[in-house]
Amino acid sequence: MTSTLGAPHIIVLGGGGHARVILDAIRAAGSEVHGFADRDANATLGDIPLLGDDDAVLAMDPNDVLLVNGLGSIRSTAARRALHERFATAGFRHAAVVHPASVIADDASIGAGAQIMAGAIVQTGARIGLNAIVNTRASVDHDSIVGDHAHVAPGAVICGGVDIGRGAHIGAGAVVVQGISIGANVLVMAGAVVVDDVESGTCVRGVPARERTV
Ligand SMILES: CC(C)(COP(=O)(O)OP(=O)(O)OC[C@H]1O[C@@H](n2cnc3c(N)ncnc32)[C@H](O)[C@@H]1OP(=O)(O)O)[C@@H](O)C(=O)NCCC(=O)NCCS
Repeated sequence: MTSTLGAPHIIVLGGGGHARVILDAIRAAGSEVHGFADRDANATLGDIPLLGDDDAVLAMDPNDVLLVNGLGSIRSTAARRALHERFATAGFRHAAVVHPASVIADDASIGAGAQIMAGAIVQTGARIGLNAIVNTRASVDHDSIVGDHAHVAPGAVICGGVDIGRGAHIGAGAVVVQGISIGANVLVMAGAVVVDDVESGTCVRGVPARERTV
C-alpha cells in the first residue's frame, strides 16, 4: 500500500518532533512538502518554508492543499484532534501518510489523515481511524480497530480483535491482549499490559494494568 499523498501542495501543521518524523515519512513515500505552519515564528522544520500560523493556512483555498497533522501526543490526544477538526470543519482534507517501511495488509483500512510510521505493522482486517497514529514499530493485529484520533505509541503491541476507542492513547511499549475493548480517551501508560476491558476516560498502568487512582 502506498501513501495517498500526491497533490502539489502538502502542508504540515506544526514543527515539533512529530512533525519531523512525519516529514521524513512523507519524503520516504516519495512526496515533497510545500510548507509548514507553526505559531512560533522561529520554528524550523529542516529546509521546509514556514508559511505562518494556522490562520495563514486557513486563508488558503482548501482545494489547493492537502494537510498533514504534525502534532503528536504523549498522554492526551485532545490537541491533535482539535487541530484536525478545526481544519476539517473549514473544508480542508487530511492526507494519510504511510511510511514505505511499514507493512499493511491489503484488506486493512486506513482512515483519512491516519499516519503509519516506519516499522509499523497493520494486519489483515484491521481498521485504522481518521487522524489516528500507528507509531514507530507498533503493531496492530488482525481485525483490531484503532478509533479516530487514537494514538498507538512506539513499540506498542495490539493483539487481534482489540477495539480501541476514539482518542485513546496507548503508551509506548504497552501490550493489549486479544479481544479487549478500550474506551474513548483512555490513557494506557507506557509499558502496561492490558488484560481487562478499560472504561472510557480512565488511565491504567502496570502489569497487569490497573486503573490509576491518584
Ligand atoms: C503517563 C505518563 C505521561 C506519566 O504521567 P505522569 O502523571 O506525568 O506521571 P509521573 O511521571 O508524575 O509519575 C507519577 C507516578 O506514576 C509512575 N509512573 C509514571 N509512568 C509510569 C508508567 N508508564 N507505568 C507505571 N507507572 C508509571 C511514577 O513512577 C510515579 O509513581 P509514584 O507516584 O509512585 O512516584 C507516562 O508515564 C507515560 O506512560 N506516557 C506515555 C509515553 C508515550 O506513549 N510516549 C510516546 C510518545 S510518541
